[in-house]
Amino acid sequence: IKVGVVFGGKSGEHEVSLQSAKSVIEALDPHQYTIVPIGISKSGRWHVGKNAVKSLEEEQKATKKVTSGPSASFINEQVGGLTSVSAQSAPEPLPPTLAGDVDVIIPVMHGTYGEDGSIQGLLELMDVAYVGAGILASAVGLDKIVMKQVFGSVGLPQVRYVGCTRKTWKTRPHEIIDEIERTFGYPCFVKPANLGSSVGITKAKSRTELERAMELAAQYDRKIIVEEGLDVREVEVAVLGNDTPQVSVAGEIVPSNEFYDYKAKYVGGTSKLIIPAELTDEQRNAIATYATQAFQAIDCSGLARVDFFIEKSSGKVIINEINTMPGFTRYSMYPKLWEASGMSYSKLLDTLIQLALE
Ligand code: ADP
Ligand code: DAL
Ligand code: MG
Repeated sequence: IKVGVVFGGKSGEHEVSLQSAKSVIEALDPHQYTIVPIGISKSGRWHVGKNAVKSLEEEQKATKKVTSGPSASFINEQVGGLTSVSAQSAPEPLPPTLAGDVDVIIPVMHGTYGEDGSIQGLLELMDVAYVGAGILASAVGLDKIVMKQVFGSVGLPQVRYVGCTRKTWKTRPHEIIDEIERTFGYPCFVKPANLGSSVGITKAKSRTELERAMELAAQYDRKIIVEEGLDVREVEVAVLGNDTPQVSVAGEIVPSNEFYDYKAKYVGGTSKLIIPAELTDEQRNAIATYATQAFQAIDCSGLARVDFFIEKSSGKVIINEINTMPGFTRYSMYPKLWEASGMSYSKLLDTLIQLALE
């Protein structure tokens, strides 16, 4: 089977994608698969073949948008680099020769263009099978506002939130602040609606912090979501399958920072993953049920990691989000949850490829 692994892309999570893809490429059994690495640079150029990683890095060095993998400075560089990134033209189309040349594509890309239905749409047009969610589930899963509306429509418990566009924020900031303060107040979490890896997210504890956080989030996205900030434990499960998805054991994250921000996720590796999470039977059942409901509500397929909050004061299970292309390094929660449920990293990739070809 010829497998194309697509990574990088015009996303705030470009570096995370490189890490995920590296693990995937290393773990695919070379006797079983012919691997075609396909890197997309931050400016949207495609680099195909054995030297994809190298030539992608060279392009980025040449355009001075290089970052040497996830680092603390990455966040600032992203903020600084965003305008120029989004000002670039659309990605060059996948070289046409590739279309008939691979049996399946693994789009190991997180965030915009990779996890939002864009690459999935391109692959549909090319009539190539691919791992993971389709256009609809990807788009709904990445947009935190639409995701919450869909989850709400099937009755999943969620935090209170206020959504707005950048334009509304710029023109009527007082109305937005009033609504937030009236609905839940502080602390609150301010997030770009379409991103991941905590990029652009701030915990705001006062009106001044809220204003600053809105400005930051507005740099990343046209839509912003503000959520009631709860004191929570964070528990995640992995879902695998198409029409009859399986749910893994649950894992808990104990962030090394005040919340699970970019640094706590990728820098220093001091956040703890506890697998299996210590839960009551009731919590465990609720999480498994909600995870399946969430997966099906957005019409997901292949894989997803569904993230929950457990409110410390009440023990109540609340859904936070679904990630249709969760972090996929060997040390990431998604594969680790399957390992703990008895499926190795390589077997997991085999299963995902089979599910894509179903
Ligand atoms: P991302 O898609 O970037 O992972 P999340 O919505 O998962 O964004 O938020 C990132 C982190 O911020 C969470 O893992 C959690 O630590 C914290 N967080 C987000 N929203 C809330 C909230 N409403 N209450 C408490 N903590 C939150
Ligand atoms: N968005 C990151 C990659 C995750 O959810 O794991
Ligand atoms: Mg998250």
